[in-house]
Amino acid sequence: MNILITGGAGFIGSHVVRLFVNKYPQHRIFNLDKLSYAGNLANLSDIENKTNYTFIKGDIVDAALVQKVFTDHQIQAVIHLAAESHVDRSISNPLEFVYTNVIGTVNLLNAAKEQHKNKEASFHLFYHVSTDEVYGSLGETGMFTETTAYDPHSPYSASKASSDHFVRAYHDTYQLPCVLSNCSNNYGPYHFPEKLIPLCINNIKNNKPLPIYGKGENVRDWLFVEDHARAIDVIFHQAKTGSTYNIGGHNEWTNIEVIRLLCRIMDTKLNRPKGTNEKLITFVKDRAGHDLRYAIDSSKLQKELGWQPSLQFEEGLAKTVDWYLANEDWLTNVTSGTYQKYYQEQYTKR
Ligand code: NAD
Ligand code: TYD
Repeated sequence: MNILITGGAGFIGSHVVRLFVNKYPQHRIFNLDKLSYAGNLANLSDIENKTNYTFIKGDIVDAALVQKVFTDHQIQAVIHLAAESHVDRSISNPLEFVYTNVIGTVNLLNAAKEQHKNKEASFHLFYHVSTDEVYGSLGETGMFTETTAYDPHSPYSASKASSDHFVRAYHDTYQLPCVLSNCSNNYGPYHFPEKLIPLCINNIKNNKPLPIYGKGENVRDWLFVEDHARAIDVIFHQAKTGSTYNIGGHNEWTNIEVIRLLCRIMDTKLNRPKGTNEKLITFVKDRAGHDLRYAIDSSKLQKELGWQPSLQFEEGLAKTVDWYLANEDWLTNVTSGTYQKYYQEQYTKR
């Protein structure tokens, strides 16, 4: 099968590309990514020379380019992860999120629809990777299920909700074979250090303040990124067309609890006296429209497809810290912006 993975140079996409390239040598994996600030080919350096892997630099907002990728490579399945993904950036620049997350998704759906019409192309599946943030914010109790009504609050979650609706509309209107999943907050290696956990790992390492929005009482449900990639693999291969699965680790933490745990882990790893890193915690102005609590009920995925998260949070966080401390060059290149210059030059030359 010829599988197109979009956004494969990003955080989650790179784990999905790695898993599919290594696990399925019989499939050809095409990674379409525009290499935005969040895309970094160093995330895939271990598999870049595999014979079943091809990188294509391109923007999903460019409809003609998307169509050409489908016809040139006879794409038979799509795993769509390319997106603008950071809530704070969506607050300062919402339109960028409409272009990539909404228009980019519709461009891919149109190309998939054309491919599906051509019976000989045997188009198999459009898998749309989405977020639990489309469901809005919970109070102190309850969990998001697959039937929770959409209620997005940030421009990011509104754009993802819109893209989810388009995917379902193409399934219902054009019988395009589609599946969706909505996952909770991920953490792990290759996470861009603008997001809470890698930002704080980097700041602790450099003895810089840890900015906690508001009182740090907002709750997120954290899942190790490789567990998300495994769930995507299971859903891709086993889900019925038209279905949706929630993915999450039953792992709710307030932000301040997460950062205190991270501080303790890094006191030990950096040989600092207990309590040193906690002194870096700084409470800052809250995010506008900050959702209070997310919690995912992933029992449908667990019961129907047998997926389970593999790691406890403490273990996953310690593993993540180890990765960042062992990959200082990656972190330095990303925080200095060097990676972008290097890869932009490489791809302009080719
Ligand atoms: P990311 O920001 O790390 O990576 C996004 C990737 O998409 C980058 O490689 C970027 O270059 C690429 N991209 C952006 N705009 C593009 C465009 N116009 N054309 C082509 N490529 C483009 O994001 P992530 O955290 O890996 O998230 C991946 C997907 O998973 C997103 O759809 C996101 O909504 C969803 N998701 C993320 C989380 C999370 O916790 N990070 C949780 C649930 C769902
Ligand atoms: P983030 O990693 O941006 O993910 P999301 O907004 O998609 O959940 O933020 C996780 C939580 O951490 C969220 O409640 C906002 C909070 N946060 C901070 O307190 N400080 C920060 O510097 C950042 C980036 C996030």
